[in-house]
Amino acid sequence: MNKLTIRDLDLKGLRVFVRVDFNVPLKDRGIGPVGDDTRIRASLPTIQYALDHGATVVLASHLGRPKGKVDPQMSLRPVADRLAALLGAPVAFAEDCVGAVAQQTVARVHAAAGAGKVVLLENLRFHPEEEKNDPQFAAALASLADRYVDDAFGAAHRAHASVEGITHHIPNAAAGLLMEQELKYLGLALASPERPFVAILGGAKVSDKIDVIENLLGKVDRLIIGGAMAYTFFKARGVPVGKSLVEDDKLGAARKIDDAAARLGSPVRFELPVDHVVADRVDAGASHEVLAVGDARIGDRLGLDIGPATIAAYTASIADAKTVVWNGPMGVFEIDVFAAGTNAVARAVAAVTGMTIIGGGDSIAAVKKAGIADKITHISTGGGASLEFLGGRQLPGVEALAEKG
Ligand code: 3PG
Repeated sequence: MNKLTIRDLDLKGLRVFVRVDFNVPLKDRGIGPVGDDTRIRASLPTIQYALDHGATVVLASHLGRPKGKVDPQMSLRPVADRLAALLGAPVAFAEDCVGAVAQQTVARVHAAAGAGKVVLLENLRFHPEEEKNDPQFAAALASLADRYVDDAFGAAHRAHASVEGITHHIPNAAAGLLMEQELKYLGLALASPERPFVAILGGAKVSDKIDVIENLLGKVDRLIIGGAMAYTFFKARGVPVGKSLVEDDKLGAARKIDDAAARLGSPVRFELPVDHVVADRVDAGASHEVLAVGDARIGDRLGLDIGPATIAAYTASIADAKTVVWNGPMGVFEIDVFAAGTNAVARAVAAVTGMTIIGGGDSIAAVKKAGIADKITHISTGGGASLEFLGGRQLPGVEALAEKG
């Protein structure tokens, strides 16, 4: 990565605006406390770095999609409390992210004696100007600080005021330590992966991952497909799928990918399930059985997990990998009887000795549930952002960062 990072900035005695992605789940109907604080923890090194180098830290984030209106259920206040607990230091909360309230809160904290100067601004998306990348709003955000650091990899695919516009007002926009890590690992996988390079893509919709599949097909040694998205490929091949989830408007795209994979030929392998667990409904109590893919006895039932033969094949494909990228579950893993495929893939990825990268909330939940998250080289905090990156797109939040020297 040839972008400026926080380590390149002089921070002493200055106010640094750090765009973070604290878009975290809140319990109790959105009021608080924070449910999963992974994203808050992920930015602690950047915040601590800025504090250790004498800065006043002005943190800004979105939470949810309040559509430009104040929504108390999407306030960042509970996040300030959790952050204070994690930092072991007070975190001032500004009730608005721009205007007099923000200015005064930042000025008060900046003027205070001692260490641990942190302000968290209220949800950026309470203002419609944030998502519109409004230049005046970006200038108002910029007026709160002397330096700009972007640690919000999860929002890097959004050309919003706090991500892109603000960088026109504060020169030398730099990556935070989390942003740097994300770009390092995802960038390594795309640019110079150790081989074999195996990508595992799952989840319900092929539409979310068409770009990723197309971009990765030419780079990987094996591309493994699981989850409901496999059924769009099967239907495109004329294989009976019963009532399995299919995106009919993506059959053409699936055929195109199949053809591209066939043209690549051996040794690149495009792997689809060979058997699956079928049931008459998505329910823990539903009766279910394993069938070979293509077996017409699926009738009007639907496929909800990969079967044991597929698990064996996928596990073998993953075993000798030196680079693995995994995004999306192999089945409806929230229901235990349909979780075997996802759990087996999680264990297989955790056992890989090379570099392993996991993105997407469901795959991350699966490795956490299996207690093997610490065996993964890099767990990406970006859902949509990591997919866009792997799909070969330029991310506005990365483009906006200044180049090194
Ligand atoms: C995410 O959760 O993927 C990021 O915080 C981006 O959120 P958004 O999709 O609402 O822009």
